[in-house]
Amino acid sequence: MSKRTIVSMPGDGIGKPVLDEAIRVLAAAGFEANYVEGDIGWEFWRKEGNPLPQRTLDLLAEHKIGLFGAITSKPKDDAFNELAPELQAKGLVYSSPIVGLRQHFNLDICLRPCRTYKGNPLNFIRRAADGGVDEPEVDVAIFRQNTEGLYGGVEWSNPPKQVHDALMTHPRFVKNFGGTPVEEISISTRIFTKKATERILRAAFEHARKYGYKSVTVCEKPNVIRETSGMMYKMAQQMQRADFPEIELWNTNIDAQMMWLTKNPENYGVIVAGNMFGDIVSDGFAGLIGGLGFACSAQYNPETGIGVFEPTHGSAPKYADYPVSIVNPIAMIESACMMLDFIDEQSIATRIRKAVAEVVAEGKVRTYDMAKMAGRADVVEKGAASTTQMADAIIAKL
Ligand code: NAI
Ligand code: MG
Repeated sequence: MSKRTIVSMPGDGIGKPVLDEAIRVLAAAGFEANYVEGDIGWEFWRKEGNPLPQRTLDLLAEHKIGLFGAITSKPKDDAFNELAPELQAKGLVYSSPIVGLRQHFNLDICLRPCRTYKGNPLNFIRRAADGGVDEPEVDVAIFRQNTEGLYGGVEWSNPPKQVHDALMTHPRFVKNFGGTPVEEISISTRIFTKKATERILRAAFEHARKYGYKSVTVCEKPNVIRETSGMMYKMAQQMQRADFPEIELWNTNIDAQMMWLTKNPENYGVIVAGNMFGDIVSDGFAGLIGGLGFACSAQYNPETGIGVFEPTHGSAPKYADYPVSIVNPIAMIESACMMLDFIDEQSIATRIRKAVAEVVAEGKVRTYDMAKMAGRADVVEKGAASTTQMADAIIAKL
């Protein structure tokens, strides 16, 4: 059998060290692949005026599977000032290459699992009835619609006349905003389509069935945001009745869910939400299981089989230039495991996850975040594991 080719996209800052270590762990676990490097990130914005060059899109279209580290995004003015002088006159506008990737390949399914590692000193604890502490075991899989909703990018300040005229056909708009001068109005739309909603719901239900979760929770706000959240919940009810009768369908409001997070997080299984609420609820759950050093994600298109796997953290620029990298590679390594699940290499993924769990449970090797140190260049001297030492410990368990 010929080896698979994976597009590795380190991006900026700590993206490179964590991706290098993840690839080393993959190899040690027996995953054989060729890696081709895809250019993405700030360096390519500065030199070429495009943080997501067409050649990278071509590579992903060809090989379908990408491992991605992290990118740096900066405000508009900085983006302009750092651009190569000969490009500054061209009127180029910076936009996030990871958002660009999602849109270009319609990677509309985003999966962010949050599972407790036994022995992780960062695990959430709560006061128990007897005055001691409880450490609830969290195991949720959050499905976030990744391309539309509030992050769909359809927005205006001082909207054009046709838009304003259209809004004036809505009695609520007339009543609440009809008297406001148009130049004082900013609008960000929240568009849900049936097709994308159906896809994210089906992915959530299928995941629940495949991995034995007993419930799927739609986490939106259907009682207030009736048209979009309401549509999602109604479609979920229909889908559950027709195709997934053995799985319970629950319905929570995003605000209440964030409160319940710290009360009974162990009760939830699969959670599904639109783009923004999915972003919020997944960060909330990630906080219970160790935060950014542990939060992994997959984004994929079930029709084309194109998938990009990445930690949810960013490029952490303040740590990027330390002579020895101090950040936790587990989020990236877990994202690589999600890639293995996606390409039907579950047995290798299971081995790596077991090795990670053993290292965390043993507690001998801990990156600065797990050791609860402030992130500084000298943490390794003070006993924290470096990025490479953590990967070494995982490889030793393999
Ligand atoms: P960040 O996630 O890069 O870092 C925030 C803080 O979290 C860090 O300073 C560090 O204390 C901690 N942290 C992050 N990753 C860690 C790890 N693996 N191990 C231990 N600690 C870790 O977020 P920030 O500082 O808001 O953004 C920095 C840059 O990253 C920005 O330019 C932002 O636009 C970009 N970004 C990119 C993302 C992506 O590539 N998908 C996602 C989020 C931010
Ligand atoms: Mg986020």
